[in-house]
Amino acid sequence: MPKNDNFLRACRRQPVDHTPIWLMRQAGRYMPEYRAVREHHSFMEMIKTPEIARDVTMQPIEAFGMDAAILYADILPPLEAMGLELEFIPGQGPVIHNPVSGLSDIAALETGDIADRLWFTFEGIRMTLDALSDEIPLIGFTGAPFTLACYAIEGKGSKNYDNVKKFMYQNQSDWHRLMEKLTEVITAYVREQVATGVQAFQIFDSWIGILSPADFKGFVQPYLQRIIQDSGIRDHDVPLIYFGTGTSGMFSEIHELGTDVVGVDWRIDLDKAWDMIGDDRAVQGNFDPLLLFGGVADIEANASRILDSVNGRDGHIFNLGHGILQHTPVENVRHLVEFVQGYRA
Ligand code: CP3
Repeated sequence: MPKNDNFLRACRRQPVDHTPIWLMRQAGRYMPEYRAVREHHSFMEMIKTPEIARDVTMQPIEAFGMDAAILYADILPPLEAMGLELEFIPGQGPVIHNPVSGLSDIAALETGDIADRLWFTFEGIRMTLDALSDEIPLIGFTGAPFTLACYAIEGKGSKNYDNVKKFMYQNQSDWHRLMEKLTEVITAYVREQVATGVQAFQIFDSWIGILSPADFKGFVQPYLQRIIQDSGIRDHDVPLIYFGTGTSGMFSEIHELGTDVVGVDWRIDLDKAWDMIGDDRAVQGNFDPLLLFGGVADIEANASRILDSVNGRDGHIFNLGHGILQHTPVENVRHLVEFVQGYRA
């Protein structure tokens, strides 16, 4: 058990000393220490070199003292392991040069040898656990099958993922075949990370909010349930977080997944969201990442608003509603972490 177990306790809806806080994408380009390393390596080089992944994971912990670390990695390397040609193009983001457009592409996707092909994640976890020396917990993560399918089909980021929905509606059996293969790989990836020792786990389903609740149920939910069941994560004492954005209309379907924690973006008040999600779950998120570009008074007012609405209820993890952005002022991050950890209503 880590010395600071506030994050794990909040995941389990147990009492805490202070509201735990970590920030999605907390290791990244807004930090000068990160840019100094990044100057000498490509992003893929960094995540595939466990020593670098460890050092970068530790940077925000050393600078700001968050209550949890998350492995410096990405959700897309499993697609590369399946045979898709992944490249991160500076200023543009991830690109897949051979996106999936039909059944023959899906048939060609490989699903075996995940532990070998993604060895750098597991080695990164081992080294980071050493570096953390049980001060705070380490969160492992994976992309969810839907969000990975978004990149596999579009071949890049997209505003509305129209091609994904077209694919889903026009080729339903192909869609299910693609989801089955993604599910197989993700299940093995989760199992191996848990076996390697991560102390909590987050499933990133960033783009799920473009679906109706009915389509979530029909096209996506069974695969998430299969991952949770077949990965064996429920046999370990590893809290599980499901994160998505734009999910306010599907909280009851998300509740059915049975995760310990549900992520909430900023488009809904946290107390209202929690009522809809149910008091048998913990909640995480809700702070708009763009607020960190504003003044300290507004940052404090918005953080207080969230904390006061929770009013000391067990099971609240402070986080942003989505990942921290590139040009976020470092001083504001420091201030937010200190403010939340020191907050007394
Ligand atoms: O939270 C953490 O600090 C852990 C590391 C982490 C990264 N990406 C590092 C990263 C995690 C958990 C992710 C998840 C991820 N990656 C998601 C889901 C969360 C979300 O934000 O929706 C998604 C959709 C991706 C895919 C991805 N990776 C995109 C779209 C981009 C390019 C956009 C951008 O911000 O540049 C990345 C690159 C990426 N992933 C960077 C980092 C630190 C920037 C890399 C660099 O150029 O230095």
